[in-house]
Amino acid sequence: MDIFETTRNIMASLPEGQRFSADDAALLMRFRDQLLVMEDELVKGFYDTIQANPQMATLIGHGARADRETSLRRWWQRTLHGPFDDKYWAWQSLVGVVHIKVGVKNPMMMGMWTWVLGWLRSQITPDAVGGADVARDLMSSVERLALTAQAVTAESYLTYYLETVIRITGFKPALLERMFKSEIDVLVGEVRAQLGSI
Ligand code: HEM
Repeated sequence: MDIFETTRNIMASLPEGQRFSADDAALLMRFRDQLLVMEDELVKGFYDTIQANPQMATLIGHGARADRETSLRRWWQRTLHGPFDDKYWAWQSLVGVVHIKVGVKNPMMMGMWTWVLGWLRSQITPDAVGGADVARDLMSSVERLALTAQAVTAESYLTYYLETVIRITGFKPALLERMFKSEIDVLVGEVRAQLGSI
């Protein structure tokens, strides 16, 4: 499995208008300096939120907050310095693979992305960026960044989770595919039966 190809395929499955674009990247770069100075507050708020949640707090480890903060700082800086090339998006895939290892579930990752968006929305005000139109456009670009990164991280989580199972069991992919097709019919039936009428 190739991380670059996997990432390209995931990105290609995103509807084009919602996917982070070259125009979004250019707008972010225009406001790079203003966004970069938000780093300390963003990182503090992010980890305060994680620490306030017992399920998430256990995952970042006792006394290891400074190390975790360094990861997020590096991510914020690399994001704002660009470029948004294959390597950047493959890195967002790697985040999904690392998250499997450390036990971070996709709802946690997505929940924290929503926190990041909410916090940025409170900072990217018309006064701060020079007008309501600019604030709206900049937030839209940040939202497409969020969606694209979440899609890549969550889908690579699933892809590499399955890859791990395939490697452990030693199944041939073609055999697995055949077994999968018949088993998924059974599962859909079971789940429908559990749900009952709606
Ligand atoms: C906006 C959502 C998130 C982003 C953008 C993000 C980003 C990252 C990045 C860039 C890495 C390092 C990958 C590498 O090795 O290069 C990482 C690893 C990690 N993340 Fe996340 N993450 C998010 C959500 C979370 C959440 C909710 C938790 C915990 C509840 C978490 C815990 C960890 C841990 C423990 C590691 C491995 C250790 C480390 O490198 O700091 N992450 N994440």
